[in-house]
Amino acid sequence: MSQNKDIIILGIESSCDDTSAAVIKNGKIRSNVVTSQLIHEQYGGVVPELASRAHQQNIIPVVHSALQDAQIRPEELTAIGFTRGPGLLGSLLVGVSFAKGLAMSLDIPLVEVNHMIAHVLAHFIERPGEQKKSPKFPFICLTVSGGHTQLVLVRDHLDMEVIGETIDDAAGEAFDKSAKVLGLPYPGGPMIDKYAKTGDPDRFEFSHPSVQGYNYSFSGLKTQFLYFIQKETSKDPEFVSKNLPDICASWQNHIIKVLLSKLKKAVKDYKINQVAIAGGVSANSGLRHALHQMSEEKGWSVFIPDFEYCTDNAAMISMAAHYKFLANEFASIDCVPRARMPI
Ligand code: KG4
Ligand code: ZN
Repeated sequence: MSQNKDIIILGIESSCDDTSAAVIKNGKIRSNVVTSQLIHEQYGGVVPELASRAHQQNIIPVVHSALQDAQIRPEELTAIGFTRGPGLLGSLLVGVSFAKGLAMSLDIPLVEVNHMIAHVLAHFIERPGEQKKSPKFPFICLTVSGGHTQLVLVRDHLDMEVIGETIDDAAGEAFDKSAKVLGLPYPGGPMIDKYAKTGDPDRFEFSHPSVQGYNYSFSGLKTQFLYFIQKETSKDPEFVSKNLPDICASWQNHIIKVLLSKLKKAVKDYKINQVAIAGGVSANSGLRHALHQMSEEKGWSVFIPDFEYCTDNAAMISMAAHYKFLANEFASIDCVPRARMPI
């Protein structure tokens, strides 16, 4: 255990295809190093076996850089926080095993973190000297990533309830799979975002899924998009190349409308106007813009994490670990990763 009163936590994230490590000192982020695995691009999606192998290669250099950037020696660490799940089992195993080994060698405690809770807590990340305006409790967070789409009622840092979620695919998957149909490289979300910037969002229309309550469904939308492209290219084989910006803008606009429809309903029903978004898809410029519009039109207080804390990163893992450390919630050395892990 560290000799001084400082709480210095190393956070480790390895749930999917980003290897990341971050250091948080007394609740302020000192470093955040992320290595994205480019190998998956050629396969059009994450290949689990390759992801775990790449984590093995990256983890030591990434942790080393995070400690170096933060100017912290391993012996100064108070605890190690790590993503226990949800995620790809082989990927998680690398981070979990590394965290255990380092914690044992330094004789410091381990803190397990739920990746989805960490995405929400990205809203509380501050750098030294920074005083950010964070959402007030209770707030509603729309967490949209490659693997998840959830509407979360956040009562406190460690008190959250999922009030709605996708019954099939995630919003990020709808972006990625439709980008693949268009022949765009993985991950497709940022590519669709890029082309959408110069397109007409009202040029093509798509239909809305009908799902109960605050739940979402994106699998039918993916199929709808595939059939739309197949139908149009059978009439004109160059349909995609001639209309790429309009296709991307209309499709992105549609996904955003679907996401916002349930969010608006939750805000109204729960009478909570503190609204946040989190997860990789919250990097989407159209979604960010639409939320700012909602704040003007409906008086919502809108919170969007800094760009680097939207997609997978260890800063959010160390932030979550910091709160859990303060709450004396530690993991045991025989803790195993969990592919599925509810909030
Ligand atoms: O949270 P994240 O980094 O990883 C998971 O936990 O899944 O989210 C990755 C997802 C991918 O589907 C990616 O295409 C999407 O976030 N994404 C975006 C944008 N940037 C990342 N989707 C739409 N627009 C973007 N700018
Ligand atoms: Zn994520």
